[in-house]
Amino acid sequence: MSKVVAVVLAAGEGKRMRSDRPKVLHRVAGRSLVEHVLAAVEAAGITECVVVVGHGGEEVREELGPGFRYAWQEKQLGTGHALAQARDPAGEGDTVLVLCGDTPLLRGETLARLVAEHRERGAAATLLTAAVEDPTGYGRVIRDGEGRVLRIVEEGDADAATRAVKEINSGTYCFAASLLWPALEELRPENAQGEYYLTDVIELFCRRGYPVHALLAPDPEEVLGVNDRVQLARAGKILQRRINEGLMLKGVTLVDPDNTYIHAGVEIGRDTVVWPFTFLEGKTRIGSRCVIGPHTGIRDSRIGDETVISYSVVQESTVGSRCQIGPFAYLRPGTVLEDRVKVGDFVEIKASRVGEGSKVPHLTYLGDATVGREVNIGAGTITCNYDGLRKWPTVVGDGAFIGSNTNLVAPVEVGEGSVIGAGSTITEDVPPGALAIGRARQVNLAGKGLEKLNAKGRVRDDQR
Ligand code: UD1
Ligand code: CA
Repeated sequence: MSKVVAVVLAAGEGKRMRSDRPKVLHRVAGRSLVEHVLAAVEAAGITECVVVVGHGGEEVREELGPGFRYAWQEKQLGTGHALAQARDPAGEGDTVLVLCGDTPLLRGETLARLVAEHRERGAAATLLTAAVEDPTGYGRVIRDGEGRVLRIVEEGDADAATRAVKEINSGTYCFAASLLWPALEELRPENAQGEYYLTDVIELFCRRGYPVHALLAPDPEEVLGVNDRVQLARAGKILQRRINEGLMLKGVTLVDPDNTYIHAGVEIGRDTVVWPFTFLEGKTRIGSRCVIGPHTGIRDSRIGDETVISYSVVQESTVGSRCQIGPFAYLRPGTVLEDRVKVGDFVEIKASRVGEGSKVPHLTYLGDATVGREVNIGAGTITCNYDGLRKWPTVVGDGAFIGSNTNLVAPVEVGEGSVIGAGSTITEDVPPGALAIGRARQVNLAGKGLEKLNAKGRVRDDQR
């Protein structure tokens, strides 16, 4: 069995992006362009992978991490030169699968087929091509009268007749390693861009009579290369459609898939309904029979089953089953809600745990708090967790009832089953079962109100 090594070319600047970031790090559907390519390589079952980096290479390496081998292309002298830098790190594999870091729509199964056909035919090179309506910007695939591939001509080097060819080079190829590496040394930058074109290897192979084949991509969308931000948006739309259709086919209802934005890798259980203008991002996992949205953003969070979330933002949080969140709730990182918790409108929770069956129905801030089970937090309750220097914890025991407009000045502990009178400022621990009232006593001064009103009336009369 021959060994396959993938080489992903990702050293280019991507001038047409007009960006300070390397092109391959631009993101669609929650992943950078090059991460989508690497995911397709992995899905094809290829485990050996070299990434060629150069422009912004440190940034690219940092983002992709140590799971890959890297080759360095000091100067961006073209795709052929880039691939040549991978020779040593590519090691002893006898088949080299070459990909561009800017084609995020490739599917693993297409790559697997490309490799399989390349091997079955004992080819020297097999290229993935596509027939497209608008070939502008791509290399054109030139064939002879019998349909054999002869060469690839880049747009800048093409005459009018060549530009009319609608079969394009996807930039994805399989090569026999023993023929590829020496051929790369023969490339010359004699073309419109003055670059070492990888595509020239094809012509070289053909002239020498080596067997070159082409596989026409079943879905021309797959080969879309991203060179500018218009293509970036187009690729994003296509990826989003694929992700959304995948989820719908697994039993998730997307009420309006065109207006629902879900990152690659997000998991959603069956019979969950997602309403429009909802953004499900990062490593988010949502259970079954939930109702999510409209207008909700959830990032890097886990949501249980049968939970309802509307018009809310949830980040790096864990939400249990049968919870009710929103409208207009904000769950910040480190929030853990156990089952059957209700969090209502204009409630912000940060780095806090709220126990089973507890309610935080409106206008509340909980920070660094641990709230027990079956607790009721009245409207306007605030944990005063920050003294200007550091954050302090608040603990509320099971079954406690916090009256409206309470300030819990941390560090403070409110005992199990205790009750806090509305409007209290609690600065000392409340023992279990106690009633705590911490506010100024009301005074009623007989007649004073009327006096005040009359005084105001006189002022008004004087001014007339
Ligand atoms: C390339 C192909 C073209 C094909 C198209 C498919 C060549 C000469 N042309 O053109 O036939 O239709 O892809 O999308 O190969 N890169 C480097 N180092 C360099 C130059 C590029 O690593 O010196 C990398 C880029 O980061 C990019 C990839 O190679 O990921 C392709 O480069 P790009 O400049 O986008 O090539 P295209 O003009 O699109
Ligand atoms: Ca490109």
